[in-house]
Amino acid sequence: MSRPLRYALVGAGVIGGVHLASVADIDVDVVAVADPVAERRDRLAATAGAAGYADVESMLERERPDLVIVATPPTSHATVAIACLRAGAHVMVEKPIAVEVAEADAIQLAAEQAGRFAIVDLQYRYMPTVERAKELIAAGAIGRVLRASVSESMLRTTAYYRDAPWRATWAGEGGGVLANQAPHALDVLCHLLGQPTQVVGWTRRLLHDIECEDTAMGLVEFEGGALAQLVVSTADPAPLRASIVGLRGELDLHRDALALTTWEPDIETHVATQPLSWVAPAAHREELAGLPVLTDHELHTALHRDVADALREGREPRATIATTMPALEVANAIIQSAQLGGATVSLPLDRERFARLIADQRAVYGRVE
Ligand SMILES: NC(=O)c1ccc[n+]([C@@H]2O[C@H](COP(=O)([O-])OP(=O)(O)OC[C@H]3O[C@@H](n4cnc5c(N)ncnc54)[C@H](O)[C@@H]3O)[C@@H](O)[C@H]2O)c1
Repeated sequence: MSRPLRYALVGAGVIGGVHLASVADIDVDVVAVADPVAERRDRLAATAGAAGYADVESMLERERPDLVIVATPPTSHATVAIACLRAGAHVMVEKPIAVEVAEADAIQLAAEQAGRFAIVDLQYRYMPTVERAKELIAAGAIGRVLRASVSESMLRTTAYYRDAPWRATWAGEGGGVLANQAPHALDVLCHLLGQPTQVVGWTRRLLHDIECEDTAMGLVEFEGGALAQLVVSTADPAPLRASIVGLRGELDLHRDALALTTWEPDIETHVATQPLSWVAPAAHREELAGLPVLTDHELHTALHRDVADALREGREPRATIATTMPALEVANAIIQSAQLGGATVSLPLDRERFARLIADQRAVYGRVE
């Protein structure tokens, strides 16, 4: 049997602790924890029985890990991930992959050059309801997708924003809900619908006294013509809900439940052949029972298990950076559209233009200490 994989954690904050708890459930050795803040580093290093490092470079040089979990604030993701890839490690980068999609491009290029994987911690795609919905769409259960709506509100308090000064600032995160909470709903949307082609967005501060948006809405068009609306917020508590409508039926997706409605005949046939004007086709709704409901901890563990198994088996993990890029493109595009008063933004995103937008916002709002 081969030796256990050697993992390192960079960033010993809130989510760093979640990762250590999740990898404790799979067969890997956590050999190092790196964080400039000694108290956090020492606490998590002691939990994992790992060595503590104040800086990433010396950790990489001494430990030569197989995989590094990058759980630092978003502005440092690209720098840290690229350093780890160049040192020969695979990386699992926290969401958002980076502030700007151009930084994500740089991580992807570094991964290709190093022959290593860059994986993104977008654990919602491991939800049994999302996995089943993806299978059903691929199998044609709802036919060609016409439209979708995805929404999720994760209520956050003032204390949350006060706890970490980088949150919801242009300098620290490059956005509010779109940078921090929305990547999950955005990944579900793009994971299920494919490649986005154009976006219109609105951003607002409905409740919180923060620099960036606490609420965002996006209209997204996908290759093949499917249309979607996205609503995300930290101003109220409303769990994930998605409706995906195709020619043959609809998927009604929640975190803990999935239902499939099918129409007989399909809508295209029905509208072409039904002699009466307002009649809908016969509908059959089926609750897809028996799907397990996973906790956040179990979702992170499922993602880690997939990654560790993939590394041992020499196959590609499911949440590689390339597969998660559309979600970041849409997030960036909603911000750009909103800044332009709701203009349509075509994808792939104009990287230079978005970089100027972020630089301009940072020039106005300043740095995060
Ligand atoms: N996947 C999820 O569900 C999920 C949940 C929460 C947070 N996150 C993401 O995780 C990331 C971190 O969030 P958090 O809430 O844990 O932040 P945090 O502020 O609690 O912790 C970040 C840690 O990184 C350390 N750090 C900063 N720069 C560093 C560097 N260059 N090298 C080493 N350490 C460094 C800080 O000292 C701090 O201890 C963010 O991108 C956030 O969006 C993801």
